[in-house]
Amino acid sequence: MLPRSSKMPRDAVHHPVFARFYAKWSVTADEKGGVAAYRHELLAGLSGRVIEIGAGNGLNFAHYPSSVSEVVALEPERMLRKLALEAAVHAEVPVDVVPGVAEALPVKSEAFDAAVASLVLCTVRDVPRALGELRRVLRPGGELRFFEHGLAPGRGLAGCQRALDRTVWPLLFGGCHTARDTIAAIEAAGFELGDYRRFRVPESGPPLPASPCVLGTARRPLPDADA
Ligand SMILES: C[S@@+](CC[C@H](N)C(=O)[O-])C[C@H]1O[C@@H](n2cnc3c(N)ncnc32)[C@H](O)[C@@H]1O
Repeated sequence: MLPRSSKMPRDAVHHPVFARFYAKWSVTADEKGGVAAYRHELLAGLSGRVIEIGAGNGLNFAHYPSSVSEVVALEPERMLRKLALEAAVHAEVPVDVVPGVAEALPVKSEAFDAAVASLVLCTVRDVPRALGELRRVLRPGGELRFFEHGLAPGRGLAGCQRALDRTVWPLLFGGCHTARDTIAAIEAAGFELGDYRRFRVPESGPPLPASPCVLGTARRPLPDADA
């Protein structure tokens, strides 16, 4: 007989303490910290088939417009995935919640009109690989929508972020990093950058390590007509 611990395969992402914390904190941040409004802005105007990576407890689901025909939402962490499944039941658009990591999307190439990354590129193990996968599964011209916290513009806070990333932050917050440069990573992955804006969450008060945010769009380029 197998030892008890080897009966069930361990999830690709296993952060039960962080998952419990995030399930509560994220709802407060949405309702009292204004994050729900950013989710709404992130998803406004989307249509067709959408893939969302690291969907967490599914707080984006309520904000998908009815022009979206289907959302495939990946979430690797077991408890958050269970909460996402509950959120999917109440969503106005069909949402299929599945296990999986952004670095190896279990879907066909060029199958989606849009992809969504919200507060997740800070946490994936391999950002270039995750963005490469998103590019693969988007149709040419398909849109990447992103809402991420990341590297601060000022040297002081950026230095503090880098120090935290090397020490306690990823351990405390489920593998999260504060000093990732989302915009540079999206461009390096071969996306055409569209409009984006930078802001702080929360908007007032002293900036926290995860306060600097960016929200915007990018596209998988169309094939070069001259090529
Ligand atoms: C801070 S939470 C954000 C959740 C959700 N996107 C939101 O906007 O509230 C980060 C999420 O990324 C997930 N995650 C961690 N590593 C991942 C990976 N390699 N691929 C996809 N998702 C991952 C975590 O399980 C968690 O649900």
